[in-house]
Amino acid sequence: MSQDPKRYTITAALPYTNGPVHIGHLAGVYVPSDIYARYQRLQGKDVAFVCGSDEHGVPITLKAKKEGITPQQVVDKYHEIIKKSFQDFGISFDNYSRTSAKVHHDTASEFFKKLYDDGKFIEEVTEQLYDEEAGQFLADRFVIGTCPKCGYEESYGDQCENCGTSHNAVDLINPKSAISGSKPIKKETKHWFLPLNEYQDWLSDWILKGHEKDWKTNVYGQCKSWINDGLQPRAVTRDLDWGIPVPVDGAEGKVLYVWFDAPIGYISATKEWAEREGKDWEPYWKDEDTKLLHFIGKDNIVFHCIIFPSMLKGEGSYILPENVPANEFLNLESNKISTSRNWAVWLHEYLEDFPGQQDVLRYVLTANAPETKDNDFTWSDFQQRNNSELVAIFGNFVNRVAVLTHKYYEGEIPQPGTLTEVDENTLQELKAYPAVISSSLERYRFREAQQELMNVARLGNKYLADEEPWKTIKTDEERTKTVMYVALQIASALAVLSEPFLPHTSDKLKRILQHSEVDGSINWQSVSQEEPLLPSRHRIGKSELLFSKIEDKQIQTQLDKLEASKAANEAEAKEVVPQKDTIQFDDFTKLDMRVGTILEAEKMPKTKKLMVLKVDTGIDVRTIVSGIAESFSAEEIIGKKVTVLVNLAPRPLRGVESQGMILMTETPEGKLVFVNPDTDGVDNGATIN
Ligand code: MF3
Ligand code: ZN
Repeated sequence: MSQDPKRYTITAALPYTNGPVHIGHLAGVYVPSDIYARYQRLQGKDVAFVCGSDEHGVPITLKAKKEGITPQQVVDKYHEIIKKSFQDFGISFDNYSRTSAKVHHDTASEFFKKLYDDGKFIEEVTEQLYDEEAGQFLADRFVIGTCPKCGYEESYGDQCENCGTSHNAVDLINPKSAISGSKPIKKETKHWFLPLNEYQDWLSDWILKGHEKDWKTNVYGQCKSWINDGLQPRAVTRDLDWGIPVPVDGAEGKVLYVWFDAPIGYISATKEWAEREGKDWEPYWKDEDTKLLHFIGKDNIVFHCIIFPSMLKGEGSYILPENVPANEFLNLESNKISTSRNWAVWLHEYLEDFPGQQDVLRYVLTANAPETKDNDFTWSDFQQRNNSELVAIFGNFVNRVAVLTHKYYEGEIPQPGTLTEVDENTLQELKAYPAVISSSLERYRFREAQQELMNVARLGNKYLADEEPWKTIKTDEERTKTVMYVALQIASALAVLSEPFLPHTSDKLKRILQHSEVDGSINWQSVSQEEPLLPSRHRIGKSELLFSKIEDKQIQTQLDKLEASKAANEAEAKEVVPQKDTIQFDDFTKLDMRVGTILEAEKMPKTKKLMVLKVDTGIDVRTIVSGIAESFSAEEIIGKKVTVLVNLAPRPLRGVESQGMILMTETPEGKLVFVNPDTDGVDNGATIN
C-alpha cells in the first residue's frame, strides 16, 4: 500500500435494525468514521463511505416475537428511523443500504457459492442445541448460558459480551433457550463451516507480524489472544427462517449466519452506490491501491479482523483492511448503555430536546471518545463543554469578528497595513494547523485532532484579546484594519478545518464569511498557503450565532428522564416472581438440604463471578463453585453458616467439580445474600425440612 492510496473504502459497522441508534453508536463508530471520510474528501481523495442496516440475525427475530409483528415489519420500521438519525447528524455516507436489498442477497449468495464451489467450506453433520418446546434449533442469541472462557452466566450462543470471546453455542455451560427458557437438547443437523484453523498461520503473519505497529493496541491485543488460543472452524450457516437462504442443494430451511452476510453488506452497499453514480465498484474492493478501513465497536473486532478477512482471503479476489480502528464503549452517567433498560440517549429524542444542536453532541462525543478505554458521557460535562468551549471560545471568537467587521467596515474585509511580528507569528501558527490536525486524523486520534481544532479558535480569541481592536479603533484606524484582517483569516480557517468535526457549524460559518463568493475554492490546503483565505474588499454576510448557551433546566430535564428510567427498572425488578407450579410432598423430600459452614474461599482466576468454596456439610468437606464473587470477598464469608443443597448432581465449572449448591437470594440492588436462617447452635449436617 502506497502512502498515498488512490482511493478509500471506508465502512462503518452496519447497525442491527432492532431499535433506534443512541449516543454510544455515534461515539464509537459513526462520528469517527464520518470525521475521517469528510477529512479525506477534503484532501481531494476518492472516497466510498458505506453503511447500511443489518437486518438479519436473531436480535431482530426476538424483537419481532416480543412485539407480535414480523421481522420484516421490525426492520422496515427501524431502518427508516436509523437512516434519518444518521442524516440529521450529518453522517455523510455515500450510501446507506440495507441487507434485505436484492443486491445484497445476490452478492452474499454469490460470495457463499464461490467459496462453496472452490471447496473452502467443511460440510459437517454435528449436534446443535435444539429447543423441543419451541421446535427449533437455538443459534446465537436464541441461547444464553455460562461462557466457557470467563464464566459469565449470560453469554450468548455466539459471543460473550463480558469477555468478547466468540464461541459455538454448544460450548456454553448450562445453556438455556431465550425463546422458551427451557433446557435445550442436542440434535443433529448439517452445516457449513469456515475452517479458520487453516487461516491461522496466514492471519498470524498478516496481523501479528504485519500490523503490530499501526493497529490500535486494543485491536491488536484481542487478535493476538484469539490467534494464540488457536482458531477453530466456524459454522457460517444456521437453521433459521429469517436470513439469506443457503444457496446450495440440500440446504432447505437454512440461512447464512448473520455475521457471514452482514460484512458482505459493505460490498453490496458499494455496488449499489457505484451503480447509482455510474461508477465501477470493483476497484473499491479489489484494487491494491485502495485503502480499506473498517470503523467498528470493540465487540465486533473478531468478526472484522479474523472472520471477514478469512472470507475475503478464501474468496481470493478481494483486498484486506489496512486498519480496523475499533473503539471501546461509552457509558452514560456511569452506567452501561442499555436498550432494554432504556438507559440511553436516543438520537431522535436528543434532537427533539436540542433542535439544531447536532454539532454540540458530535463535539462532546468526540471530546470524550472511548478511543483507548471505556468512557463516560455525563449531562453536566455536555453542558460544560458547550458553554465554556463551544460558546465561550469558538462561538465567541467568530461572533466578535463578524460583528466588528460589520460595525467598522460594513462587512467588507479591510486592507491591512504593515504586519507586526505578532501578526506574522499568528498567521504562521495558523498555517501549521492543517498538518497538525491531519497527522492526528491519519492516526485515528480524533479527540486529539478536535483539540487542535479548538486551539485554532483559542489562537483567534487570544489574538483579539491581546490586540484589542475595540480599543485601537479609537486611536489607530490603520492598526485596527490589520488586526481585523488577520482575525478574519483565522475565522476563515476555522470554517474549513471544522468541517470534518462540526459540519453544520462549518456550513454556517462559511455562509457568514461568504466563502462561496471568493474566487477559487478555499480548501484544507489553502489554509497553509501564502495567499490570504479572504482577500481585502471581500464582503461577509450577516452574522449569526454559532452556538447558544445550554441552561441548567435543560440539563435537569435530561437527568429527570434518566431518573425515570431508573425508577421504572427498579419497579420492574421489584415485581414478585409468580409462584411456580404445585409440587407433591415427595418432590420436596427429594431435596437434601443441610446446614454447613464455609471453611475456605478463593476467587476463581480469570472469572468475574466464580468463587471456589470448601464447605463443611457435616457429611464431609466438599468443593462447591458458586457465582458470588461480585457480592462478597473471600474473607467476609469464611466461617459463615449457609444452607447447602447436598444431593445435587456434581457438575464441572471451568474445570473444577462443584459438589452441591448454596442457597442464596438477592437484594433489590442485585447483591446476593445467603439464606441462613437463625442457625446459631445448630451443627453442620443438620437437615432442613
Ligand atoms: N450489526 C452488528 C452490531 O451491531 C454489526 C455488523 S457489522 C458488519 O454489532 F460488518 F457485519 F456489517
Ligand atoms: Zn466470556
